[in-house]
Amino acid sequence: MLQLRDAQPVAVRREDYAAPAWWIDTVDLTFDLDPAKTRVLNRMRMRRNTDVPVQPLRLDGDELNLARVLVNGQGASFRMEGDQLVIDALPDAFELEIFTTCCPAKNTKLMGLFVSEDTFFTQCEAEGFRRITYFLDRPDVMASYQVMLRANRSAYPVLLSNGNLVEQGDLPEGRHYAKWVDPFKKPSYLFALVAGKLVAREQRIKARNGKEHLLQVYVRSGDLDKTEHAMNSLIHSIAWDEARFGLPLDLDRFMIVATSDFNMGAMENKGLNIFNTKYVLANQATATDADYSNIESVVGHEYFHNWSGDRVTCRDWFQLSLKEGLTVFRDQEFSQDLCADASARAVKRIEDVRVLRTSQFPEDAGPMAHPVRPDSYIEISNFYTVTIYEKGAEVVRMMQTLVGRKGFARGITLYFERHDGHAVTCDDFAQAIADANPESELAALLPQFKRWYSQAGTPRVATQGHYDAVARTYTLNFTQSCAPTPGQSIKEPFVIPVTLGLLAQDGQELTLHLAGDEDADAVRSHTLVLTQQHESVTFNGIDSEPVPSILRGFSAPVRLDFEYTDAQLLTLLANDPDPFNRWEAGQRLALRSAISLITSGADVVGTTTLNDAFVDAMRGVLRNPTLDSAFKELVLTLPSETYIAEQLEVVDPQRVHAVREAMRAQLATALFSDWEWAYEQNQDTGAYNPDPLSAGRRALAGLALVNLCLAARASGDSVWPGKTLQRFKDAGNMTDRFNALNALVSSGHALAQQALARFHAIFKNEALVIDKWFSLQAGSPDRGGNVLALVKQLMKHPDFSLKNPNRARSVIFSYCSANPGAFHRADAAGYVWWSDRVIELDAINPQVAARLARALDRWSKLAEPYRSAAREAIARIAARPDLSKDTQEVVTRALA
Ligand code: ARG
Ligand code: ZN
Repeated sequence: MLQLRDAQPVAVRREDYAAPAWWIDTVDLTFDLDPAKTRVLNRMRMRRNTDVPVQPLRLDGDELNLARVLVNGQGASFRMEGDQLVIDALPDAFELEIFTTCCPAKNTKLMGLFVSEDTFFTQCEAEGFRRITYFLDRPDVMASYQVMLRANRSAYPVLLSNGNLVEQGDLPEGRHYAKWVDPFKKPSYLFALVAGKLVAREQRIKARNGKEHLLQVYVRSGDLDKTEHAMNSLIHSIAWDEARFGLPLDLDRFMIVATSDFNMGAMENKGLNIFNTKYVLANQATATDADYSNIESVVGHEYFHNWSGDRVTCRDWFQLSLKEGLTVFRDQEFSQDLCADASARAVKRIEDVRVLRTSQFPEDAGPMAHPVRPDSYIEISNFYTVTIYEKGAEVVRMMQTLVGRKGFARGITLYFERHDGHAVTCDDFAQAIADANPESELAALLPQFKRWYSQAGTPRVATQGHYDAVARTYTLNFTQSCAPTPGQSIKEPFVIPVTLGLLAQDGQELTLHLAGDEDADAVRSHTLVLTQQHESVTFNGIDSEPVPSILRGFSAPVRLDFEYTDAQLLTLLANDPDPFNRWEAGQRLALRSAISLITSGADVVGTTTLNDAFVDAMRGVLRNPTLDSAFKELVLTLPSETYIAEQLEVVDPQRVHAVREAMRAQLATALFSDWEWAYEQNQDTGAYNPDPLSAGRRALAGLALVNLCLAARASGDSVWPGKTLQRFKDAGNMTDRFNALNALVSSGHALAQQALARFHAIFKNEALVIDKWFSLQAGSPDRGGNVLALVKQLMKHPDFSLKNPNRARSVIFSYCSANPGAFHRADAAGYVWWSDRVIELDAINPQVAARLARALDRWSKLAEPYRSAAREAIARIAARPDLSKDTQEVVTRALA
């Protein structure tokens, strides 16, 4: 029989949104859990949506075995159209019963119901519920759920679902059951179940109103000693959301469950959050400070979704940033508010901006560029992006800047008053914030402000300063522009809040007197709201040419161009009271040196890249008695290769790598005694504490070790590598141990091998630590062109598994996405290997494959021979006949 190839997948378009033709009021699910064949009985009460024309019922399904369909208890006639189950003649209200089976054990996509280490888990966002039963699998259909779980008691002693446990008991043949009822209506993507051998850390808390809640963190029994931090993070999150936004916990019971097989970080299922173990498990022996801080923000993120996502959800998936941008903003604010002081808050802000600029800016300039509220998609899983999440959070942050912190809290209150229990849009959100602040600039500029939702691309703000000595005025002229992105050739001007200040040449901050606004209070920082393509601002009473500090705190997600002199940047680096711009000045200086050498064509070897003034300034920061270690560590870390590459028209990744390595080596050697001093100064005594202050000290000590080992590499000295190995052996916590290991590996020292072997031996039973072990090696500098061979070797290691996403990421992504100097080979072997891995992964787990497929998004910027070789590797993937639509969408867009 002739088999026709599937038609090209069709794009879903935002403008085609139509309300559902049917509503589902109640869902009564019964699961007979079995890894090989799980039976699912789904009984729904449904009714016609009388607001829309009469249509047949179309239920989504995916890889289900359908056994029976009953309408009001009677066998009904239905037909299949592709994956949809269609029923034509139906009464206005009826009960529908659907009986299906599925095979969780073979579910390697990890969407729907799957098995991980003998435990059942679900992941339903965005469209996984249709892999469990036929359903109206769209977020604007909200129903009341009750769930009966049945399984073998000894294999699956714990049976969990959303809401409250209302009944449990034994069944014949060693089986048992549990019945759960969720008191809140929800869309199907928030459904969850868990069944297996798990243990829980429990805590009872009392809310402000006196209500009691049971909090639980479920893990495998050996991991109970790694749950304290997640539990504390949850307790802090609950208190914070009440204090900052007046949003209380609305459930008697709130559960977090960890699984080691998970595509993403975590999932906010109502009352039953499911997490990647990476964002739950931590103790000082196995987790780094970065792990602790990620756990805090991901636990916060998922908890905050309980309101921003669950109580108010998205009308359709184009509105994804409605919940994700807002919830990232909330978790960022949460982490900042947990900081003890302004310096720690600034460090958190710099870290967040660094993520935005190294990941989201390239996305916004590449083939996958899309607006914060996209207009179309082929596979929604491809749109869980840094644009939806991090740029979306910046858009929310700008709203807060425009209405003030109190005004923003009022807006949030109004948003939840208006929309509680509903599925709404990004427009609804912006409207609520504006309506709660009718006198604000946001309210005045709302339609234009919303271009941040509709236009893709990173705006560029070109700024020039003009000092008039006679009039004693200083004028800044701004010109905004935004490059075309796929499908959007013309961009209208954005609303851009630019927070700025002025420094005198001696570094003193000036009081601002805005021309035309003489009555305004004298301030040192002012937020100018740009709305036009060209705009200017003039300051009066300026005695000599000042140094402008523009875009303080990174007040808008834009690229700021200003022709600073080195002297001006050095002034900002030494004096700017705004820590973000102080850090930024150092980054600009380093970037400038890097770019001038990269584009000069001069030999990298033997060229001194960084000038004395820069090196002295770095020494000044390192030795500064008033700055925190965490901030110093950020300043002393050079801009990443990815960020440097983004500033270039044409990228020779090997040259970028060589130049940055040369800069690193120079800083290591030139500041040798300063690094020694910094290392000694930042030794912690006393008990381990992951708070930002102590973590900052460990981070700076770790950077110092890397530099000391690098310098030793150049000088041939063996004292510091020896000390580093000793530190590796003696370390009392994973942060210090891993930093020492990293220093040996990244400096390519011979001692690295024995340290790696020892590390593996100590932690062979700690999967998350073994991930670090793989990742460190796959990401190590490619001094002899050997890293690809090493990576191939690692994939043959008995601990490697392609099916486990964390493990796959630890080797493959660490090499392809995080090790540009090793990946971009002139012989194209890195790219060929990458394309094989994408193809191989695509057959197992399309979401992970499609994410990997994005590693060469920026191929068109590459210099030859990289450019052609990269294109060829992408085309090689695209030519495969059976690609998932996930991967197909990514490679098709890359080649467009
Ligand atoms: N909503 C989850 C979060 O907290 C992420 C879910 C991602 N799911 C997916 N299929 N891509 O951010
Ligand atoms: Zn989220």
